[in-house]
Amino acid sequence: MIDVAIMGHGVVGSGVAEILINHNERISKRVKNDVNVKYILDLRDFDSLPYSEKFIKDFNIILSDADVKVVAEVMGGVNPAYDFVKKCLASGKSVVTSNKELVAAKGAELIKIAEDNNVNFLFEASVGGGIPVLRPMTQCMSANEIDEIWGILNGTTNYILNKMIVDNMDFDTALKLAQDLGFAEKDPTADIEGHDACRKVCILAALGFGKHVYPNQVKTEGITKITLDDVAYADSFGCVIKLIGHAKKLKNGKITASVAPTLVSRDCILSGVNGVFNAVMLNGDQTGEVVFYGKGAGKEATASAVVADIMDCIKHINARKYLSWEDGDNDYVDIAHDPKTRLFVLLKSEDFDGLLKQWSEIFGENIQNVKNEETGEIAFITDTDFESKLREKLSLFKNGISVKTLKTML
Ligand code: HSE
Repeated sequence: MIDVAIMGHGVVGSGVAEILINHNERISKRVKNDVNVKYILDLRDFDSLPYSEKFIKDFNIILSDADVKVVAEVMGGVNPAYDFVKKCLASGKSVVTSNKELVAAKGAELIKIAEDNNVNFLFEASVGGGIPVLRPMTQCMSANEIDEIWGILNGTTNYILNKMIVDNMDFDTALKLAQDLGFAEKDPTADIEGHDACRKVCILAALGFGKHVYPNQVKTEGITKITLDDVAYADSFGCVIKLIGHAKKLKNGKITASVAPTLVSRDCILSGVNGVFNAVMLNGDQTGEVVFYGKGAGKEATASAVVADIMDCIKHINARKYLSWEDGDNDYVDIAHDPKTRLFVLLKSEDFDGLLKQWSEIFGENIQNVKNEETGEIAFITDTDFESKLREKLSLFKNGISVKTLKTML
C-alpha cells in the first residue's frame, strides 16, 4: 500500500481527493499498488464529507509519517507551500503540485532538492490545467530543439475576451459574468493583469529551453485596456485579440519572453481557442509546430493532471523522472530585444484631416487601414520592421494625436 497526503482542500484539492477516493480501484490497478489517501491538510473544518476523518490541521503529521511517500500540494501561493514542499522533498517524499506561482518562483531549487533526495517533483497541472503539455513536451518531444513557444494560458482572460468578441460584451460586464460563473476569482488581478499567464510562460520557457526564467524577467501586460472598439478593429483586419504568452530562443543564446494582448489572425489555430480553453503551441526543429489544447482551468480537469502526477510518482518510487532545468540568471532574458514585427496602431484626434495628413506622411497610404471620421480614428497594421523603428515613427505624431498599439502575431 502507498500512503498519499493532500495539502489543501480548495477547488483543485477537493477534486484530487474525490478522484483518488471515488476511482480508487481503477487508480490502484493502474499503478499496481493500493493507493490510500491518508491525510488531507486544511485549516478549515469539513465535517460532513464521507472522508472527513482524513482531515488534519498540522503539517508536521504528514512530514513525520514515513509511510507517506507522495504529497500533493494544492494550496496555491508561495507561502507556506514553499516551506512545506521543501521539507517533504528533503525528507524523501515525492511532491506533485498545481501551484504555478510556486514553480515559477522556486522551480529550479525544488527540482534540485528532489534530485538530491532521489524523489520526484512533478507539476503537470501548473500549466494548462488538464492539458497534457509538460510531459509530452519534455518526453515525446525530447529529440527536438524547441525554439519558440506561444500559448493562451489563462482561461479567465480568454473567456472575457471571447465574450467581448462574440457577444459584444464590454470588459467589466464580461469580468462580472466570469466571476458569477466561478471562472474568475473574487480578486481577479492575477488573471486580468497577466501575472498568472506570466508564471506559466516561466515554466514553459524553463522546461523548453532548460534554464529558469523568473516572473520579473517577463514583460507582462494584461487585458484591462482592451476595449470593444479594439476588438472590432481587430475583426476588420481578420484577427481576434488573445492574451498570448510567448517565449523565444534568440541567436545570442538568450531568450525573450512576454505576455500581452495580441492580434491573432483568424487563420492561426490559436484564434479558435475559445472560452476557458487553453492552448500551447511549440516549434520543434524536428516536429515543426505542435499544439496542445484543452481545458486550462476547472476542478476536474486540473485534478486529473495532479492525480496523474501522483500515479507517476508511485510508479517511480526510488527512481527519478528527468524533469529539470538549470537555475536562471539576470542576463538570460534579453529585456532589450528588438524584434522584427508588425504592430496594430490606433490613432485618434479631434482634427481628423490633420491626423490623415500626418499619417500619410509618416506611414504612407498603402498600408492596411480602417478610417472612422466620426470618431476621428485611424486603425492600421504596420509593415514588418524592427519594433524600435516602428515606435520611432509613432513618436513623430504631434498635435493632440493619441496613439495606442497592440502586438500582433502576423
Ligand atoms: N485562474 C487560472 C485561469 C486558473 O483562469 O486560467 C488556472 O490556472
